[in-house]
Amino acid sequence: MRNRSADFRSDTTTRPTPAMRAAMAAAEVGDDGYADDPTVNELQRVAAARLGKEAGLFLPSGTMGNLLALLVHTGRSEEVLLEASSHIVRSEMGGIAAVAGVFWRPLPGEHGAIPIAAIEAACEGKGYGTARLRPSLLCLETTHNAAGGAVLPLAYLAAARDVARRFGMALHIDGARLFNAAVALGAPAEAIARHADTVTFCLSKGLRAPVGAVLCGPAPLIARARLLRRMLGGGMRQAGILAAAGLVALESEVDRLAEDHRRARALAAGLAAIHPSLCDPGRVETNLVMVDFAASGRDAEAWVRLFAARGLTCRATGATRMRLVTHADLDDADIAALIGVVREAWQG
Ligand SMILES: Cc1ncc(COP(=O)(O)O)c(C=O)c1O
Repeated sequence: MRNRSADFRSDTTTRPTPAMRAAMAAAEVGDDGYADDPTVNELQRVAAARLGKEAGLFLPSGTMGNLLALLVHTGRSEEVLLEASSHIVRSEMGGIAAVAGVFWRPLPGEHGAIPIAAIEAACEGKGYGTARLRPSLLCLETTHNAAGGAVLPLAYLAAARDVARRFGMALHIDGARLFNAAVALGAPAEAIARHADTVTFCLSKGLRAPVGAVLCGPAPLIARARLLRRMLGGGMRQAGILAAAGLVALESEVDRLAEDHRRARALAAGLAAIHPSLCDPGRVETNLVMVDFAASGRDAEAWVRLFAARGLTCRATGATRMRLVTHADLDDADIAALIGVVREAWQG
């Protein structure tokens, strides 16, 4: 019997590293309300430099980063083009409408990528009557959560940027897992970010920091986002204690993400070897593994209970579906244990 528990629900469950805790304890702090917390300022500088942007803004969450991007790029009653299953559409509690007052046009994607022709058609107003809202922002998500951690190719991003420019739209990237995308592409994060006006990335997912995200972009937009962050109640004070962990994350955790991707591939291969309908290893590009237990005769909740009995915490994402996430707090034995539970139950 395993005496270890392992959490496959999300990379957000990772605990801060000893180096992060040490950096937090030693962090020099000020009052970020007055922009004089040196550790926050350093994180914002480092993050912006990593993304090749002028400025960065430290935030409590990726959700706030996306909302601020919507607020700085759009006016009320304008339209935002979004992939239909994007995190902003599915999981950010309607802030886009409730707070930003903009209207979303959900466009179905293929593996997270809205076809370029569909973006063009939306901008040209095809399928709409003459009265329509102005599409002022295109939002893309990489890696794409609901598409199983799919990575948007650099050539796709360049083409999307060109369409956005042609139609006078800004381009924001929800890069909650931007560094997973960069590692998977074997490219610096800047190679992704250069195609967007603004980019949000999270420190508290695979990068293991306890809290935080950074919105990066041109200095005037970030200055405006800073004011609006206050409106949203996201202004923090001695936030350097949190930013210190973010600096360690950027310094020490980015390259390590390759290990999470390797484990995700091993997990997918192990499950597909039990039954090919369980998952498609060819679709595993980063650290998310989408599993479908439809052929097992058990629903996803039943699998959640089976896993829980072995100390493996998982979450159903549909009647028969589950998203399994690899991260630094899982090891090879945890991967093998999960595959073992499925193999045993499948054969029994
Ligand atoms: C693609 C994507 N965007 C945004 C977020 C929001 O990040 P946060 O939980 O920090 O608000 C998440 C969180 O899972 C995400 O997966």
